[in-house]
Amino acid sequence: MSTINLRVNGRAHTVDVDPSTPLLYILRNDLGLQGPRFGCGLGQCGACTVIVNGAAVRSCITPTSSVKGEITTLEGLSQEGKLHPLQQAWIDEQVPQCGFCQNGQIMTAKALLDKNPHPTDEQIRQGMAGTLCRCMTYYRVQAAIKRAAGRNV
Ligand code: FES
Ligand code: FES
Repeated sequence: MSTINLRVNGRAHTVDVDPSTPLLYILRNDLGLQGPRFGCGLGQCGACTVIVNGAAVRSCITPTSSVKGEITTLEGLSQEGKLHPLQQAWIDEQVPQCGFCQNGQIMTAKALLDKNPHPTDEQIRQGMAGTLCRCMTYYRVQAAIKRAAGRNV
């Protein structure tokens, strides 16, 4: 066991864990953050995505001891009770079906827009590739990203 310091959604946390424990388990089980989901557990679906230092990271295959810097989860997007523009766009476009993948869709989209605030359709497709949705919400995900980016949809 090791003592590991994490900074999540602007708050400092100290956890005492096996350093190889996936970050997803710490976020969900120790810190009570249920936004990131366990899907495949293999880094292949994106349901567990969080943002670490501005990059989308698959937390199910990320050892907690390897994480340095600020972690943002879905819970960290809304500030002072105000929805993030992506969250509002998700509502406006009625994106989710079952909802299981949607954490990964929104967090991957956030990392994309933070790097490229005005992506083309092709850049959105490339940026979101590999974030899987069994309910095939891909077109509405794309529309919501365009809406959040201020583009006509
Ligand atoms: S649960 Fe992490 S990529 Fe599928
Ligand atoms: S909304 Fe059901 S898996 Fe994407």
